[in-house]
Amino acid sequence: MKPFVAEHIANINPYPPGKPIEELEREYGISGSIKLASNENPLGPSPKAVEAILGATSKLHRYPDGSGFYLRKKLAQKYDLPFDSILLGNGSNEIIELVIRAFMSPGDEVMMPSPSFLLYRLVVQWMGGRPVPVPLKADLGIDLEKMARAVSDKTRVIFLTNPNNPTGKVIAKADFEAFLAALPEQVTVVLDEAYIEFSTSADTPRGFDYLGGRGPAVIALRTFSKAYGLAGLRIGFGAMDPEIAGFLNRVRQPFNTGSLAQIAALAALDDEDFFDRTRRITWSGLQFLYREVEKMGLEYVPTEANFFLIDVACESKAVYEAMLRRGVIIRSMASYGLERHIRVSVGLPEENARFIGTLKEVLGQIAAGRQGKPLSSGAPQ
Ligand SMILES: Cc1ncc(COP(=O)(O)O)c(C=O)c1O
Repeated sequence: MKPFVAEHIANINPYPPGKPIEELEREYGISGSIKLASNENPLGPSPKAVEAILGATSKLHRYPDGSGFYLRKKLAQKYDLPFDSILLGNGSNEIIELVIRAFMSPGDEVMMPSPSFLLYRLVVQWMGGRPVPVPLKADLGIDLEKMARAVSDKTRVIFLTNPNNPTGKVIAKADFEAFLAALPEQVTVVLDEAYIEFSTSADTPRGFDYLGGRGPAVIALRTFSKAYGLAGLRIGFGAMDPEIAGFLNRVRQPFNTGSLAQIAALAALDDEDFFDRTRRITWSGLQFLYREVEKMGLEYVPTEANFFLIDVACESKAVYEAMLRRGVIIRSMASYGLERHIRVSVGLPEENARFIGTLKEVLGQIAAGRQGKPLSSGAPQ
């Protein structure tokens, strides 16, 4: 067999899929491990969403509503936006893909901060474009001035992650507005707000305030995967000028979001108690984690999201591996170019406490030079 594959596809480094937790536990002979690696909701899914799903299973023989009518209507009402400005996606990830498919041609450039969410770069590569990663500033903030200078007549899309993943940092409103004003009109700006519900900053842009204004088009991406606890269902949405939504609709699969995902998202929007508890447990968890990390004498990056970076002052890969062996799954940021940083998601209080206890143990052992042989294989992403 000698299948033809385009060079730009053959050259891609695939997104590394993680192993299921159960498989990992079997492999390492551990049990009761905790996953603080993917910025998921530690409270589980919204109970109202679960109830709605259970009530909807008898309709599973029907195709979903391809227009996502009720969910879009509710979102439009909630955020005071035109109905036609809302587009649903199979996770906000899918909307990232639709944007690139609609607005980028092979050979065009797409810019993103580096490090930020890995998917932007991958999607651009899938479709034969040229990713232009722009390094963060020394303080790990997004370098909007450098990004504005890097715009060329081939730039079609710019991704801004706010708060950024993996840093948890937000962009200041005035900086964002100056950035927009400096851009040519052919550029579409995607403000990825996957974690915006966790931000307490009054001085950071909310994408919904910038749709359809003068200057470059702005698309705001939101997800039900984090604050609403529905990552496994794959549902997110974008808000944008209706004309832009019309273009994305042309490259969207007719039934891109499932019926259970739509129903669960609708119910989750009504679950204010769950949403409030999610934010409260995240903010109180962060206060605990900051305090404990400070006591250990480590530096960290204050966050506006539900995860944060810790400088472990040694090789973060070794810390990740030793923590994994003790059943605490976090992320090493080495593959993002941050060799000494780990990223940890805020968990339940007992999970946060276990993380701190394990980190102390592991760093103590590393300092004492008693570290065993490093493990090699991957953890869930
Ligand atoms: C910055 C960012 N955007 C988007 C996503 C994915 O969201 P979804 O689950 O809605 O596809 C993530 C998930 O980790 C993320 O970190």
